[in-house]
Amino acid sequence: MFKNFFGLFSKDIGLDLGTTNIRVYIKGKGLVINEPTVVAINLRNEQIISIGSNALKMVGKSPSHISVVRPLSNGIITDFEVTEKMLKSIFDKVHRDAFTLVPRPKVVTAIPLEVTEVEKKSLEDAVLQAGAREVSLVERPVAAAIGVRLPIQESIGNLIVELGGGLSEVAVISLDGIVAHKSLKIGGESLNKNIVNYVRDKFGVLIGEQTAEELKIKIGSAHGNKNQEMKIKGRDLSKGLPREVIINESQVREAMMPLLKAIIEGIHETIENTPPELVADIYERGIILSGGGAQLPGLDKLIRKKIDIPVIVNDDPVTAVIRGTGLILEDFENLKQVFIPSARE
Ligand SMILES: Nc1ncnc2c1ncn2[C@@H]1O[C@H](COP(=O)(O)OP(=O)(O)OP(=O)(O)O)[C@@H](O)[C@H]1O
Ligand SMILES: [Mg+2]
Repeated sequence: MFKNFFGLFSKDIGLDLGTTNIRVYIKGKGLVINEPTVVAINLRNEQIISIGSNALKMVGKSPSHISVVRPLSNGIITDFEVTEKMLKSIFDKVHRDAFTLVPRPKVVTAIPLEVTEVEKKSLEDAVLQAGAREVSLVERPVAAAIGVRLPIQESIGNLIVELGGGLSEVAVISLDGIVAHKSLKIGGESLNKNIVNYVRDKFGVLIGEQTAEELKIKIGSAHGNKNQEMKIKGRDLSKGLPREVIINESQVREAMMPLLKAIIEGIHETIENTPPELVADIYERGIILSGGGAQLPGLDKLIRKKIDIPVIVNDDPVTAVIRGTGLILEDFENLKQVFIPSARE
Protein backbone atom coordinates (compact mmCIF):
# COMPACT_ATOMS: atom_id res chain seq x y z
CA MET A 1 0.00 0.00 0.00
CA PHE A 2 2.72 2.46 1.04
CA LYS A 3 4.88 1.37 -1.86
CA ASN A 4 2.12 2.13 -4.36
CA PHE A 5 1.47 5.45 -2.72
CA PHE A 6 5.15 6.33 -3.02
CA GLY A 7 5.28 5.16 -6.61
CA LEU A 8 2.49 7.52 -7.52
CA PHE A 9 4.33 10.65 -6.47
CA SER A 10 8.01 9.85 -6.56
CA LYS A 11 10.17 11.11 -9.37
CA ASP A 12 11.68 7.83 -10.49
CA ILE A 13 14.96 8.19 -12.32
CA GLY A 14 16.73 6.49 -15.22
CA LEU A 15 20.51 6.82 -15.07
CA ASP A 16 23.21 6.24 -17.69
CA LEU A 17 26.48 6.95 -15.94
CA GLY A 18 28.84 6.92 -18.92
CA THR A 19 32.60 7.33 -19.08
CA THR A 20 32.26 10.51 -21.11
CA ASN A 21 28.66 11.62 -20.57
CA ILE A 22 26.06 11.29 -17.85
CA ARG A 23 22.38 11.18 -18.75
CA VAL A 24 19.37 11.33 -16.49
CA TYR A 25 15.73 10.58 -17.28
CA ILE A 26 12.79 11.39 -15.06
CA LYS A 27 9.68 9.26 -15.32
CA GLY A 28 6.85 11.12 -16.96
CA LYS A 29 9.17 13.94 -17.94
CA GLY A 30 11.92 12.59 -20.20
CA LEU A 31 15.63 13.31 -20.58
CA VAL A 32 16.60 16.09 -18.17
CA ILE A 33 20.40 15.89 -18.03
CA ASN A 34 22.86 15.14 -20.83
CA GLU A 35 26.27 16.44 -19.76
CA PRO A 36 29.94 15.45 -19.78
CA THR A 37 30.88 13.24 -16.80
CA VAL A 38 33.19 15.86 -15.35
CA VAL A 39 33.09 17.39 -11.87
CA ALA A 40 34.91 20.46 -10.54
CA ILE A 41 35.55 20.37 -6.79
CA ASN A 42 36.80 23.04 -4.43
CA LEU A 43 39.49 21.24 -2.42
CA ARG A 44 39.26 23.78 0.43
CA ASN A 45 35.76 22.68 1.45
CA GLU A 46 35.27 19.54 -0.69
CA GLN A 47 32.17 21.13 -2.26
CA ILE A 48 31.17 20.66 -5.89
CA ILE A 49 31.62 23.85 -7.92
CA SER A 50 30.14 22.59 -11.15
CA ILE A 51 29.19 19.46 -13.06
CA GLY A 52 29.17 18.81 -16.79
CA SER A 53 30.07 21.25 -19.54
CA ASN A 54 30.91 24.05 -17.08
CA ALA A 55 33.37 21.77 -15.32
CA LEU A 56 34.77 20.59 -18.65
CA LYS A 57 35.71 24.18 -19.54
CA MET A 58 38.00 24.20 -16.49
CA VAL A 59 40.05 21.14 -17.52
CA GLY A 60 43.72 22.09 -17.51
CA LYS A 61 42.93 25.70 -16.61
CA SER A 62 41.99 25.65 -12.94
CA PRO A 63 43.98 27.00 -9.96
CA SER A 64 45.46 24.52 -7.51
CA HIS A 65 42.55 24.53 -5.06
CA ILE A 66 40.11 23.43 -7.77
CA SER A 67 40.29 19.84 -8.89
CA VAL A 68 38.57 18.81 -12.11
CA VAL A 69 37.80 15.10 -12.04
CA ARG A 70 36.49 12.52 -14.47
CA PRO A 71 35.23 9.94 -11.98
CA LEU A 72 34.84 7.04 -14.45
CA SER A 73 37.23 5.16 -16.66
CA ASN A 74 36.21 2.55 -19.26
CA GLY A 75 32.71 2.48 -17.83
CA ILE A 76 33.87 1.78 -14.28
CA ILE A 77 33.76 4.12 -11.28
CA THR A 78 37.34 5.06 -10.42
CA ASP A 79 36.54 7.87 -7.96
CA PHE A 80 33.74 6.69 -5.72
CA GLU A 81 33.50 9.78 -3.52
CA VAL A 82 33.22 12.18 -6.43
CA THR A 83 30.69 9.93 -8.19
CA GLU A 84 28.54 9.82 -5.09
CA LYS A 85 28.74 13.61 -4.64
CA MET A 86 27.86 14.16 -8.29
CA LEU A 87 24.85 11.84 -8.15
CA LYS A 88 23.70 13.35 -4.86
CA SER A 89 23.75 16.83 -6.32
CA ILE A 90 21.77 15.62 -9.35
CA PHE A 91 19.19 13.68 -7.29
CA ASP A 92 18.81 16.64 -4.89
CA LYS A 93 18.04 18.89 -7.80
CA VAL A 94 15.44 16.48 -9.17
CA HIS A 95 13.99 16.30 -5.67
CA ARG A 96 13.90 20.06 -5.17
CA ASP A 97 11.99 20.48 -8.41
CA ALA A 98 9.34 18.10 -7.09
CA PHE A 99 6.95 18.52 -4.15
CA THR A 100 8.73 18.64 -0.82
CA LEU A 101 6.95 15.54 0.44
CA VAL A 102 8.00 13.40 -2.50
CA PRO A 103 9.86 10.29 -1.34
CA ARG A 104 13.35 9.40 -2.45
CA PRO A 105 13.51 8.10 -6.04
CA LYS A 106 13.62 4.60 -7.37
CA VAL A 107 16.51 4.45 -9.86
CA VAL A 108 17.02 2.24 -12.91
CA THR A 109 20.67 2.38 -13.86
CA ALA A 110 22.53 0.99 -16.84
CA ILE A 111 25.68 -1.02 -16.09
CA PRO A 112 28.44 -2.33 -18.39
CA LEU A 113 28.73 -6.02 -19.28
CA GLU A 114 31.48 -8.05 -17.61
CA VAL A 115 31.77 -5.99 -14.44
CA THR A 116 33.09 -7.64 -11.29
CA GLU A 117 30.84 -7.98 -8.24
CA VAL A 118 32.90 -5.27 -6.55
CA GLU A 119 32.42 -2.86 -9.45
CA LYS A 120 28.72 -3.65 -9.57
CA LYS A 121 28.32 -3.09 -5.85
CA SER A 122 30.18 0.18 -6.02
CA LEU A 123 27.72 1.52 -8.63
CA GLU A 124 24.76 0.37 -6.53
CA ASP A 125 26.25 1.88 -3.37
CA ALA A 126 26.96 5.20 -5.09
CA VAL A 127 23.36 5.45 -6.31
CA LEU A 128 21.89 4.47 -2.92
CA GLN A 129 24.18 6.70 -0.88
CA ALA A 130 23.32 9.57 -3.20
CA GLY A 131 19.73 9.25 -2.04
CA ALA A 132 17.92 6.58 -4.07
CA ARG A 133 15.54 4.36 -2.10
CA GLU A 134 15.96 1.47 -4.53
CA VAL A 135 18.25 0.68 -7.46
CA SER A 136 17.72 -1.77 -10.33
CA LEU A 137 20.40 -2.70 -12.84
CA VAL A 138 20.10 -3.23 -16.57
CA GLU A 139 23.02 -4.11 -18.83
CA ARG A 140 23.82 -1.21 -21.15
CA PRO A 141 23.36 -2.96 -24.50
CA VAL A 142 20.01 -4.31 -23.28
CA ALA A 143 18.94 -0.79 -22.29
CA ALA A 144 20.16 0.48 -25.67
CA ALA A 145 18.21 -2.22 -27.50
CA ILE A 146 15.06 -1.29 -25.58
CA GLY A 147 15.79 2.39 -26.29
CA VAL A 148 15.94 1.82 -30.05
CA ARG A 149 12.86 -0.38 -29.75
CA LEU A 150 14.27 -3.71 -30.88
CA PRO A 151 11.88 -6.61 -30.19
CA ILE A 152 14.07 -8.03 -27.41
CA GLN A 153 11.16 -9.80 -25.72
CA GLU A 154 10.56 -12.02 -28.73
CA SER A 155 12.56 -15.09 -29.74
CA ILE A 156 14.40 -13.10 -32.39
CA GLY A 157 18.14 -12.46 -32.60
CA ASN A 158 18.85 -8.74 -32.09
CA LEU A 159 22.47 -7.62 -32.49
CA ILE A 160 23.31 -4.25 -31.00
CA VAL A 161 26.71 -2.57 -30.74
CA GLU A 162 26.92 0.22 -28.12
CA LEU A 163 29.92 2.41 -28.90
CA GLY A 164 30.67 4.69 -25.95
CA GLY A 165 33.55 6.86 -24.83
CA GLY A 166 35.15 4.15 -22.72
CA LEU A 167 33.64 0.87 -23.86
CA SER A 168 32.38 -0.84 -26.97
CA GLU A 169 29.86 -3.51 -26.14
CA VAL A 170 28.39 -6.04 -28.53
CA ALA A 171 25.37 -8.12 -27.58
CA VAL A 172 22.95 -10.52 -29.18
CA ILE A 173 19.67 -10.31 -27.30
CA SER A 174 16.64 -12.60 -27.47
CA LEU A 175 13.77 -13.28 -25.03
CA ASP A 176 14.80 -10.51 -22.61
CA GLY A 177 18.34 -11.81 -22.18
CA ILE A 178 21.84 -11.76 -23.61
CA VAL A 179 22.72 -14.80 -25.72
CA ALA A 180 26.26 -13.83 -26.79
CA HIS A 181 28.33 -10.78 -26.03
CA LYS A 182 31.70 -9.08 -26.03
CA SER A 183 32.83 -6.07 -24.03
CA LEU A 184 35.90 -4.18 -25.22
CA LYS A 185 37.75 -1.50 -23.29
CA ILE A 186 37.91 0.55 -26.46
CA GLY A 187 35.91 3.70 -27.06
CA GLY A 188 35.94 7.28 -28.26
CA GLU A 189 38.55 8.15 -25.65
CA SER A 190 41.00 5.48 -26.79
CA LEU A 191 40.47 6.61 -30.40
CA ASN A 192 41.53 10.09 -29.23
CA LYS A 193 44.62 8.66 -27.51
CA ASN A 194 45.58 6.86 -30.71
CA ILE A 195 45.31 10.15 -32.62
CA VAL A 196 47.53 11.90 -30.04
CA ASN A 197 50.14 9.13 -30.39
CA TYR A 198 49.96 9.19 -34.18
CA VAL A 199 50.58 12.95 -34.41
CA ARG A 200 53.43 12.64 -31.91
CA ASP A 201 55.14 9.79 -33.79
CA LYS A 202 54.57 11.15 -37.30
CA PHE A 203 55.17 14.89 -36.74
CA GLY A 204 57.01 15.08 -33.42
CA VAL A 205 54.24 17.31 -32.12
CA LEU A 206 52.31 16.79 -28.90
CA ILE A 207 48.61 17.66 -29.02
CA GLY A 208 46.01 17.51 -26.25
CA GLU A 209 43.18 15.01 -26.15
CA GLN A 210 40.63 17.78 -26.75
CA THR A 211 42.41 18.61 -30.02
CA ALA A 212 42.39 14.93 -30.97
CA GLU A 213 38.63 14.85 -30.26
CA GLU A 214 38.18 17.88 -32.54
CA LEU A 215 40.15 16.18 -35.31
CA LYS A 216 38.03 13.06 -34.97
CA ILE A 217 34.69 14.90 -34.97
CA LYS A 218 35.55 17.37 -37.74
CA ILE A 219 37.47 15.22 -40.22
CA GLY A 220 37.41 11.68 -38.83
CA SER A 221 35.89 8.83 -40.79
CA ALA A 222 36.14 5.05 -40.89
CA HIS A 223 35.54 4.64 -44.61
CA GLY A 224 35.43 6.78 -47.75
CA ASN A 225 37.47 9.92 -48.24
CA LYS A 226 36.38 13.49 -48.64
CA ASN A 227 40.03 14.63 -48.54
CA GLN A 228 39.32 16.93 -45.65
CA GLU A 229 42.14 18.39 -43.62
CA MET A 230 42.54 20.45 -40.51
CA LYS A 231 45.21 22.77 -39.13
CA ILE A 232 46.07 22.09 -35.51
CA LYS A 233 48.49 23.44 -32.95
CA GLY A 234 50.64 21.45 -30.60
CA ARG A 235 54.01 21.55 -28.89
CA ASP A 236 57.05 20.63 -30.95
CA LEU A 237 58.74 17.91 -28.91
CA SER A 238 62.33 18.75 -29.91
CA LYS A 239 62.10 22.55 -29.63
CA GLY A 240 59.48 22.72 -26.89
CA LEU A 241 57.69 25.51 -28.79
CA PRO A 242 54.24 25.71 -30.38
CA ARG A 243 54.00 24.39 -33.92
CA GLU A 244 51.22 24.13 -36.46
CA VAL A 245 50.65 21.01 -38.54
CA ILE A 246 48.06 20.02 -41.11
CA ILE A 247 46.43 16.62 -40.60
CA ASN A 248 44.23 14.99 -43.20
CA GLU A 249 41.31 12.62 -43.06
CA SER A 250 43.21 9.50 -44.08
CA GLN A 251 45.84 10.12 -41.39
CA VAL A 252 43.15 10.35 -38.72
CA ARG A 253 41.68 7.14 -40.07
CA GLU A 254 45.06 5.40 -40.08
CA ALA A 255 45.49 6.39 -36.41
CA MET A 256 42.08 4.96 -35.44
CA MET A 257 42.11 1.87 -37.67
CA PRO A 258 43.69 -0.70 -35.31
CA LEU A 259 40.97 0.00 -32.74
CA LEU A 260 38.17 0.01 -35.30
CA LYS A 261 39.43 -3.36 -36.50
CA ALA A 262 39.40 -4.69 -32.94
CA ILE A 263 35.76 -3.60 -32.55
CA ILE A 264 34.82 -5.33 -35.81
CA GLU A 265 36.70 -8.43 -34.65
CA GLY A 266 34.58 -8.29 -31.45
CA ILE A 267 31.38 -8.20 -33.52
CA HIS A 268 32.66 -11.12 -35.59
CA GLU A 269 33.45 -13.18 -32.51
CA THR A 270 30.04 -12.47 -31.00
CA ILE A 271 28.31 -13.68 -34.16
CA GLU A 272 30.47 -16.82 -34.09
CA ASN A 273 29.20 -17.52 -30.58
CA THR A 274 25.55 -17.04 -31.53
CA PRO A 275 23.25 -20.04 -32.25
CA PRO A 276 22.56 -20.39 -36.01
CA GLU A 277 18.81 -19.66 -35.83
CA LEU A 278 19.52 -16.29 -34.27
CA VAL A 279 22.31 -15.57 -36.76
CA ALA A 280 19.74 -15.99 -39.52
CA ASP A 281 17.62 -13.27 -37.86
CA ILE A 282 20.63 -10.98 -37.63
CA TYR A 283 21.38 -11.44 -41.34
CA GLU A 284 17.85 -10.38 -42.08
CA ARG A 285 17.47 -7.54 -39.59
CA GLY A 286 20.99 -6.14 -39.60
CA ILE A 287 23.41 -4.92 -36.96
CA ILE A 288 22.23 -1.87 -34.98
CA LEU A 289 24.79 0.74 -33.90
CA SER A 290 24.20 3.09 -30.94
CA GLY A 291 26.31 5.26 -28.62
CA GLY A 292 28.36 8.36 -29.47
CA GLY A 293 30.87 6.37 -31.52
CA ALA A 294 28.11 5.26 -33.92
CA GLN A 295 28.28 8.80 -35.30
CA LEU A 296 31.73 8.25 -36.83
CA PRO A 297 31.09 8.67 -40.57
CA GLY A 298 31.59 5.50 -42.60
CA LEU A 299 31.73 3.13 -39.62
CA ASP A 300 28.56 1.43 -40.82
CA LYS A 301 30.11 0.94 -44.27
CA LEU A 302 33.36 -0.42 -42.86
CA ILE A 303 31.51 -2.98 -40.72
CA ARG A 304 29.29 -3.94 -43.63
CA LYS A 305 32.34 -4.41 -45.84
CA LYS A 306 34.12 -6.69 -43.31
CA ILE A 307 31.14 -8.66 -42.01
CA ASP A 308 28.71 -8.59 -44.91
CA ILE A 309 25.58 -7.97 -42.88
CA PRO A 310 23.49 -4.77 -43.21
CA VAL A 311 24.36 -2.14 -40.59
CA ILE A 312 21.90 0.46 -39.30
CA VAL A 313 22.93 3.52 -37.28
CA ASN A 314 20.18 4.55 -34.88
CA ASP A 315 18.78 8.06 -35.49
CA ASP A 316 19.62 9.31 -32.02
CA PRO A 317 22.42 6.97 -31.02
CA VAL A 318 23.79 8.83 -27.98
CA THR A 319 20.53 8.62 -26.03
CA ALA A 320 19.72 4.98 -26.81
CA VAL A 321 20.73 3.68 -23.35
CA ILE A 322 18.99 6.42 -21.37
CA ARG A 323 15.84 6.16 -23.47
CA GLY A 324 15.90 2.45 -22.67
CA THR A 325 16.02 3.08 -18.91
CA GLY A 326 13.16 5.55 -19.42
CA LEU A 327 11.02 3.02 -21.27
CA ILE A 328 11.66 0.54 -18.46
CA LEU A 329 10.38 3.09 -15.91
CA GLU A 330 7.33 3.87 -18.00
CA ASP A 331 6.50 0.18 -18.59
CA PHE A 332 7.93 -1.30 -15.42
CA GLU A 333 5.82 -4.44 -14.93
CA ASN A 334 6.37 -5.54 -18.52
CA LEU A 335 10.10 -4.84 -18.71
CA LYS A 336 11.37 -5.60 -15.20
CA GLN A 337 12.49 -9.09 -16.35
CA VAL A 338 15.58 -7.49 -17.86
CA PHE A 339 17.06 -6.55 -14.48
CA ILE A 340 20.18 -8.41 -13.40
CA PRO A 341 20.78 -9.51 -9.79
CA SER A 342 22.16 -7.04 -7.28
CA ALA A 343 25.64 -7.49 -5.77
CA ARG A 344 24.46 -6.17 -2.43
CA GLU A 345 23.39 -9.35 -0.64
N1 LIG B 1 30.78 12.41 -34.77
C1 LIG B 1 31.48 11.60 -33.99
N2 LIG B 1 32.41 10.77 -34.51
C2 LIG B 1 33.11 9.95 -33.74
N3 LIG B 1 32.97 9.87 -32.42
C3 LIG B 1 32.06 10.66 -31.83
C4 LIG B 1 31.27 11.56 -32.58
N4 LIG B 1 30.45 12.22 -31.71
C5 LIG B 1 30.74 11.76 -30.47
N5 LIG B 1 31.69 10.83 -30.54
C6 LIG B 1 32.32 10.10 -29.43
O1 LIG B 1 31.36 9.50 -28.62
C7 LIG B 1 31.92 9.31 -27.32
C8 LIG B 1 30.87 9.53 -26.30
O2 LIG B 1 29.83 8.62 -26.51
P1 LIG B 1 28.80 8.28 -25.36
O3 LIG B 1 28.23 9.54 -24.81
O4 LIG B 1 27.88 7.27 -25.90
O5 LIG B 1 29.78 7.63 -24.27
P2 LIG B 1 29.52 7.27 -22.76
O6 LIG B 1 28.16 6.72 -22.62
O7 LIG B 1 29.84 8.43 -21.89
O8 LIG B 1 30.66 6.18 -22.51
P3 LIG B 1 30.58 4.62 -22.12
O9 LIG B 1 29.21 4.15 -22.47
O10 LIG B 1 31.64 3.96 -22.90
O11 LIG B 1 30.86 4.56 -20.65
C9 LIG B 1 33.05 10.32 -27.19
O12 LIG B 1 34.27 9.62 -27.02
C10 LIG B 1 33.01 11.07 -28.49
O13 LIG B 1 34.31 11.34 -28.98
MG1 LIG C 1 27.40 4.84 -22.72
